[in-house]
This record gives sequence, C-alpha cells and structure tokens, in this order.
Amino acid sequence: MGTPKILVLFYSKTGHMLKMARSIAKDAENAGAEVRLRKAAELAPLSVIENTPEWKVIYSQMSDIPDAMVDDLIWMDGVIVGTPTRFGNMAAPMRNFWDQTGKLWMEGTLIGKAVAAFSSAEMVHGGQEATLLSMYPTFLAHGLLIVGIPGNVKELYKSGSYYGALSSGEPNDTDLIVARHMTHRLVEVTKKLRG
Ligand SMILES: Cc1cc2nc3c(=O)[nH]c(=O)nc-3n(C[C@H](O)[C@H](O)[C@H](O)COP(=O)(O)O)c2cc1C
Repeated sequence: MGTPKILVLFYSKTGHMLKMARSIAKDAENAGAEVRLRKAAELAPLSVIENTPEWKVIYSQMSDIPDAMVDDLIWMDGVIVGTPTRFGNMAAPMRNFWDQTGKLWMEGTLIGKAVAAFSSAEMVHGGQEATLLSMYPTFLAHGLLIVGIPGNVKELYKSGSYYGALSSGEPNDTDLIVARHMTHRLVEVTKKLRG
C-alpha cells in the first residue's frame, strides 16, 4: 500500500488558517502520511505587507513554509485545502494557484485523488460554508473526490460542517478536533484509493 502522500495547501493573512494548517499537517503525519505543507504564493506587494504590522508578523511566521508549486499537486495522493473567507469565496492567492492548473485539468492528472477543505471567517456566520462550497466546482472539474465530515462526528454540533472544517476567527480546540477528524478520514480514504 505504501505511505500516502498528503499535501496541506493553504493561504493565510492573519494567522488563523496558518494555525489550522499546521495542526492538520501534524494530524496527517500522526495518521501515517508523508506530508508537504505549502502556502499559496502571496499576491500583495511586499511593501504593503511591510507597512501592515499584524500582516508582517504572520508573514514572517510562515517563512519556513515553501510556496506551493503545481508540481506539488502531481506529487500528492490527497490534498487538504484551506483558505480564509473573502465574501464567500476563496482568497485571491488560492484562486491564483488553482488558475495555474489548467494543464493538469486538461490531462486529467488529479482524477481520482482525494480532497478535503477548511476555511475561516471572522463572524460566526461569515460565509465559511459558502467558501467551502465555492471551492468544490474547481475540485470536481479536476475529478478530485471530495471528503467531507459525516454527521456522527459529535463535535460537529459545536464547530465545522459536513462540507469541511472551519473556524470563526482564530481556531479553538474544538475547531482543531473537527479538522483532525476530517484529516484522518482524508488519509484513510487516500489509503483505500491507492489500494
Ligand atoms: C477582503 C476580506 C474579505 C473578508 N470577508 C469576510 C466575510 O465575508 N465574512 C467574514 O466573517 N470575514 C471576512 N473576512 C475576515 C477573514 O475571513 C477572517 O479574518 C479569517 O479568519 C482570516 O484568516 P487568516 O487569519 O488565515 O488570514 C474578510 C477579510 C478580508 C481581508
């Protein structure tokens, strides 16, 4: 069967998705996967980041994490994608990353691989679920198989959704537990898909 290769791909500006992505990467490793943690490359000019103190701090906290390359998608058996909510959609750097995957789409490279998603917004009902659902047409166009979170996960009554893990503001412990359930499921599904 071999070790499943899991890509954790995220974007973060103020650190919420960074916290969840790092936690998910550990969870995937603990579940027996080989993990690549990658961030969608920033689109904002460096001068803007340098002049925004909170952004500058988080940006520097991510300096150990390489920017995602399209080749990371070729490498992986399963991918977990996280983006903050931007008015019910993924953040532009994450969109920009997927907009570079046309060749893979044409060649069907990702068909039959597994995907799961996570998001956050600032409000309790700030559009997290809308963001998750807005990502699915891209995943389905690639032939990726979406792994959600089933209703028997009891923490779903407090956080997360069928459509993926989420947080309102900084992820709390329950948010991270729900993300762990999703991650373990993604790893298990990936192992089965590899056969
Ligand atoms: C341009 C922009 C649009 C946003 N849109 C929403 C929104 O529609 N609803 C909401 O609750 N939060 C919104 N937010 C807040 C972020 O989604 C939220 O703070 C998120 O947790 C940030 O994740 P990060 O810390 O990983 O960057 C927006 C933030 C920005 C910068």
